[in-house]
Amino acid sequence: MDRQLRAHRYMNYVSAAAVVAAMLAVSSPASAQQANTPVERGRYLVRITGCHDCHSPKVQGMTPNLDLALSGRPASTQLPTETKTEVHASPDLTAWTGPWGYSIAANLTPDAATGIGTRYTEASFITTMRTGKKPNGTPVMPPMPSDVYQNMTDDDLKAIFAYLKTIKPIKNAVLAGLKLPVVAKPAAEAPKK
Ligand code: HEC
Repeated sequence: MDRQLRAHRYMNYVSAAAVVAAMLAVSSPASAQQANTPVERGRYLVRITGCHDCHSPKVQGMTPNLDLALSGRPASTQLPTETKTEVHASPDLTAWTGPWGYSIAANLTPDAATGIGTRYTEASFITTMRTGKKPNGTPVMPPMPSDVYQNMTDDDLKAIFAYLKTIKPIKNAVLAGLKLPVVAKPAAEAPKK
């Protein structure tokens, strides 16, 4: 093989390798974002454990509207039709009904009035995620997957809470304008231990 041909082949390998490297860079964005701090890990966990599926308004289909990330049911979302024998959801999955009654995806942003901001501390957040009970003692209704999330480690739950504290506070009262046919009565404050 003459030297020119060999050099030509070598250049082909080099450019093929460059193309593969570029493809890998595009197809694995996660590898570029190491979760080094608790907040980064929390962001990562929130993105892979489905919180946006139910707690974020959607731009279309199941794509979360990140401008309104985790702000719960938007006022424009209508209630699904009532059922006692099936599970019905609004198209954006922020409003639900089933045998348990209605449940409306909460605002998880730090907004003091309408988010979980002032209602939760790190400790009560962990307790809620572990026990499926809100700080006032009422059960967290389906389809919030409490049975799944109760298996998260303390460190993971702390990371998620730390991340939720850093996201944009969005004022959105998720129950605003709703006349829920079946209103879950808030239970009395949980007895202090
Ligand atoms: C399949 C849908 C779904 C997914 C996924 C989901 N949630 Fe929920 N979540 C709900 C619904 C609906 C409610 C409201 C339940 C109620 O009011 O009883 C809720 C309630 C909550 C509450 C209680 C809020 C309050 O008002 O006290 C917290 C905290 C919470 N979710 C956190 C999370 C986090 C963190 C994730 C991701 C790790 C997540 N949820 C994923 C549907 C979901």
